[in-house]
Amino acid sequence: MVKICCIGAGYVGGPTMAMIALKCPDIQVVVVDISKPRIAAWNSPDLPIYEPGLDEVVKACRDKNLFFSTDVEKHVAEADIVFVSVNTPTKTRGLGAGKAADLTYWESAARMIADVSKSDKIVVEKSTVPVKTAEAIEKILTHNNDKGINFQILSNPEFLAEGTAIEDLAKPDRVLIGGRETPGGRKAVEALKAVYAHWVPEDRILTTNLWSAELSKLAANAFLAQRISSINAMSALCESTGANVSEVAYAVGKDSRIGPKFLNASVGFGGSCFQKDILNLVYICECNGLPEVAHYWKQVVQINDYQKTRFVKRVVSSMFNTVSGKKIAILGFAFKKDTGDTRETPAIDVCHGLLGDKALLSIYDPQVTEDQMKRDLAMNKFDWDHPQHLQPQSPTAFKQVSVVWDAYEATKDAHAVCIITEWDEFKKLDYQRIYDNMQKPAFIFDGRNVLDVESLRKIGFVVYSIGKPL
Ligand code: NAD
Ligand code: UGA
Repeated sequence: MVKICCIGAGYVGGPTMAMIALKCPDIQVVVVDISKPRIAAWNSPDLPIYEPGLDEVVKACRDKNLFFSTDVEKHVAEADIVFVSVNTPTKTRGLGAGKAADLTYWESAARMIADVSKSDKIVVEKSTVPVKTAEAIEKILTHNNDKGINFQILSNPEFLAEGTAIEDLAKPDRVLIGGRETPGGRKAVEALKAVYAHWVPEDRILTTNLWSAELSKLAANAFLAQRISSINAMSALCESTGANVSEVAYAVGKDSRIGPKFLNASVGFGGSCFQKDILNLVYICECNGLPEVAHYWKQVVQINDYQKTRFVKRVVSSMFNTVSGKKIAILGFAFKKDTGDTRETPAIDVCHGLLGDKALLSIYDPQVTEDQMKRDLAMNKFDWDHPQHLQPQSPTAFKQVSVVWDAYEATKDAHAVCIITEWDEFKKLDYQRIYDNMQKPAFIFDGRNVLDVESLRKIGFVVYSIGKPL
C-alpha cells in the first residue's frame, strides 16, 4: 500500500488529502500538523474548517485510510510521498517584509523530513511558493544526506477555492505536476500522476518542469485577481458616468476570448492568497531586475485597496459626511460566502475605516465567531498568521463594536446596512421588516451587488450598489 503523509492540516492539506483518501482506497493517507487543537478538531465531529461537502468526505474515510495525527516525525518517516502544505504567509519583517513569502514553516518542515527519513521519498510542494523554491528545498534535503536517500522534489500547486473546495477537488480544471527532467524526476512525476489518475482524466493532468509549475500557480492567482481589479476599476468609472457595471461585465464577458467568470464587481477581493501571492510575484520580479513588471502587478493590489477605501468614503459621504455615533449593520465578515475564513477579508478594512469615523458597528456573519472578528479587528495588517504578535485589543474601538447572531438584530435601529459578504441568506431577508426597524433615511450599501435594488427602493431604502447608477 502506498503511504502518503501531508504536513499541514489546514484549508488545503485537510480537504485535498480527504479527497485523495476518498478516491484512492488503496492508499493510506495521514495528515499531520504541529497544532494539537487543529488535529483534535479533524478527529472530532466538528471539523476545524467550514467547507460544504467536506464532512461527508471526511466521515467516509476517516480511520479507514485517512488519519489525522500530531505524530509528525513518525508518519513522515513511514511515507513514500510527503506533501508539504504548510502556510507561506507574507514576511512581516526583515528583507522583503510586506512582500516576500515567509518560508520559515516550509524550511523547518524540509529539515525535519531530511532528519527523520530512512527511505527514498517524493516530496511534493503543495503550498504556494516562490519560483525556484524547489531548488532550495533540494539543497536542504540533500545536505548532510549521508544515508544515501533519494529525494525527488515535485511541484503540485493547489488551485481549489474556499467554499467550493470539494467540488474543485473532485472535478479539477487541471492538476499540475512539475518535476526534474531526469529519469528519477520523470519517475516521480509518474508516481504522483498515478495517484490523481484514480479520478482525474489523463488529459487534465499537466506535467511541466519544476519552475513552470511553481510560477503557473502565482500567475493563475495574479490573472484571477487582475480580473477583479479590472472590473472594480471599471465600477468606479461606472459610478461617475451612469453606466451599470453588471451590464458592462455581461457585455464584456460575452466575448468568448474574455469569458464571463470572475467579473463580479465587489467591495474588493479578500482571502489568504490573492494579495499574498501577487506581492510575492512583485518581489520576485524586483529581485530579477524587472521593476516595470513588478509595478504592473502591484497595481492589482493597489486598485483593491482603493476599492475598499472608496466603499468607506461612499458610505460616509452619502450619510451626510458623518457616521459618528450612528449604528451601521455589517452583514458578512468572511472573505466570501460559504467559508468561515476571514484572512484578508475586506470586512476588516471597511470596519477599520468606519470605526475611524466613529461609527457604531453591529456585525453579523453566519460562520464567523465574535472572538475571531475581534482578533481580526485588533490585528495589524499581515498579522493574522502570527498570533503571538497580537496587538492588545483596543478597548475604545471595541466599545464601538457589537457582534450579534442574527441579521435582524444587527439592523435594528441602524442608520445603514453594509453587505460585505454575499451569503445567500442576505438575499432572502425580510427587507420590509428591516426597513421598519431602522432609522430613517435608511441606507443600504451593497458591497456585493446581490440585492434587488428596485424592490428595496420601493420599500423606501436609499440604495448604493457598486458601480451602479443611483
Ligand atoms: P493553513 O494556515 O490553513 O494551514 C497550514 C497548516 O500548516 C497549519 O495548520 C499549521 O499549523 C501547519 N504547519 C506549519 N508548519 C508546520 C510544520 N513544520 N509541521 C507541521 N505542520 C505545520 O494554510 P492553508 O490555507 O491550508 O494554505 C497552505 C498553503 O496552500 C499556502 O501556501 C497557501 O498559499 C496555499 N493555498 C491555499 C489555498 C486556500 O484556499 N487556502 C488554495 C491554494 C493554495
Ligand atoms: C483563490 C483562487 O480562486 C483559487 O484558484 C486558488 O487556489 C486560491 O485563491 C488560493 O491560491 O488560495 P479563494 O481565495 O479561496 O481562491 O476564493 P475566490 O473565489 O478566488 O475569491 C477570492 C476573493 O475574490 C473573494 O473575496 C471573492 O469574493 C472575490 N471575488 C471573486 C470578487 O470580488 N469578484 C469575483 O468576480 C470573484
